[in-house]
Amino acid sequence: LRATAGVISRYRAWLPLADTDPVITLGEGSTPLVLAERLSDELGCETWVKVEGANPTGSFKDRGMTLALSAAAGSGAKAVVCASTGNTSASASAYASKAGLETIVLLPAGRIATGKLAQAIVHGARVVQVDGNFDDCLELARKLSHDYPVALVNSVNPIRIEGQKTAAFEIVDVLGDAPDLHVLPVGNAGNITAYWRGYTQYHAAGIASRTPRMWGFQAAGAAPLVLGHPVLDPETVATAIRIGNPASAAQAIAARDESGGLIDMVTDEQILAAQSFLAAREGIFVEPASAAGVAGLLAKRRTGELEPGQQITVTVTGHGLKDIDTALAGRGPVRAEVVSPDLTAVAAVCGLLA
Ligand code: F0G
Repeated sequence: LRATAGVISRYRAWLPLADTDPVITLGEGSTPLVLAERLSDELGCETWVKVEGANPTGSFKDRGMTLALSAAAGSGAKAVVCASTGNTSASASAYASKAGLETIVLLPAGRIATGKLAQAIVHGARVVQVDGNFDDCLELARKLSHDYPVALVNSVNPIRIEGQKTAAFEIVDVLGDAPDLHVLPVGNAGNITAYWRGYTQYHAAGIASRTPRMWGFQAAGAAPLVLGHPVLDPETVATAIRIGNPASAAQAIAARDESGGLIDMVTDEQILAAQSFLAAREGIFVEPASAAGVAGLLAKRRTGELEPGQQITVTVTGHGLKDIDTALAGRGPVRAEVVSPDLTAVAAVCGLLA
């Protein structure tokens, strides 16, 4: 019997892991690439959605974390640390459990979606809520790993980016070439860096005939890469990308410019509308931050800045179940009419009686 192949076993030749390192995997990667027909109609472009919420802990972070924990375990580390808006901490906690290591997670107090907090707690991490934002947490995590014997597993650890680039490989492997345009949300800017690396490496090796233009979207209240300077008090309903000073800012700008792409911003309203569209029209439930790329595409279509006829891939980064409070807020009381256990009564409530 063989376990489900994770990204290390599928792409090892492309990844900087020592032969002596153990492989810590939960079977991540191989996520669905779904043709989104309604979205394609809206955009006038053939649009494929890369559903990263289908990873073991419900986000794209698992692709990098399998590498980070394999390397950490190989180096003899006993504990790992990360700052997080929630998904990195969930993933680190799970992979550290698999590796038999301790986890410390530094989280902005009160600003983590409940599902993500539950993941860290249930996986047994030491959860430290910091009275500050993500940027404060990252600075502390860096210093903690410098002064104490704990390995840093944020995406400032370059091996995380290496793992995350495998999503671009998978897209080319499935479509047969790179798309015209790849779109994704941007927070700390690790993932746009990772996709660009994956696409350029496949192109250099002749596996793809081209590279896509990269379009990244930040939340309007947390858009340092659009404004061109750090944001001291980032604010958005999309807590996963509530980041004011992205660690990989320079690499994200390089990905934008080398690909001939753009980094722009979308409002919270546009993000929530895109989240609803994906769920109600495409059957894909994502957390708010994950919808930023789709929100950006819909906005650019409206302003005429999206050329029709392109082939587009758009990454949705995390599962909707991670943040059900936001998903249900603003929808009024949950619709749950109680009826008697009677066929006619049920049919009446469903509007089935002529
Ligand atoms: N989407 C989701 C669901 C995320 O959790 C993140 C980042 C992003 C998008 C942005 O990706 O940072 O590589 O540009 N979450 C990090 C965390 C910051 O701590 O979980 P990025």
